Amino acid sequence: MQAKEHKFSGVYVIEEKGKTSLATRSLTGAGSVYGEKVIDIDGVEYRLWPSRRSKLSAAIRNGLREMPIQRGSKVLYLGAASGTTVSHVSDIVGEVGTIYAVEFSPKVARNLLSLSQSRSNIVPIVDDARYPTEYSPFITEPIDIVYQDVAQPNQAAILTENMRHFCSFGAWGMIAIKARSIDSSIPASQAFNKELSEIEASGVGMVEKVNLAPFEKDHLFVVVRATEAAI
Ligand SMILES: C[S@@+](CC[C@H](N)C(=O)[O-])C[C@H]1O[C@@H](n2cnc3c(N)ncnc32)[C@H](O)[C@@H]1O
Repeated sequence: MQAKEHKFSGVYVIEEKGKTSLATRSLTGAGSVYGEKVIDIDGVEYRLWPSRRSKLSAAIRNGLREMPIQRGSKVLYLGAASGTTVSHVSDIVGEVGTIYAVEFSPKVARNLLSLSQSRSNIVPIVDDARYPTEYSPFITEPIDIVYQDVAQPNQAAILTENMRHFCSFGAWGMIAIKARSIDSSIPASQAFNKELSEIEASGVGMVEKVNLAPFEKDHLFVVVRATEAAI
């Protein structure tokens, strides 16, 4: 078995019994985080990164062209849940990067809190992503990427408001838009267009859009970049 480097640094491709999987190199070497398979290759621990469990993995699998998250990145992650995707982002950014992981449900955040005890690059914040001023005291440096997966009706506004608050010109935004959370009474394409227009109206520059089917139904993954007008 071999782990090949993906074109995105910190992401690996592992071929096993004719099947290809994405993986990240474990930061801690301490085994599985959420039940994902762990493979040891030449003494290095790789954690498989299932595209049905993580929208970032699904976007990469579906041909994402820009992946701003890399070693050393400072990431504001909104909608961290129990830390499934956050744990892989933690592997990618390494000890020199930081993930400020915001989750508003204290129950869901319990695992996130314990994950942060074994990974010093995760700063857990139990708060509401709609109100960035509430948690800005915990964010002590400029953010390179705002990653947003809150599955809420006002997703676009939450992304752009946080970018305005914590980023400067050239920073990136990554958002997984869930059509049914926007408006379940209209077709998915219409719900996507509604959010996309709102993102564009904020002055943020559109970089790319990736549909997450078949891994996630009616989800669009969007990458944007902060322009001077937006910040
Ligand atoms: C789809 S799940 C996130 C999954 C996670 N991103 C992953 O890939 O591992 C959405 C999460 O966003 C949280 N959430 C929803 N609205 C929020 C808000 N306004 N502020 C913070 N978290 C929120 C929910 O509690 C839920 O845990």
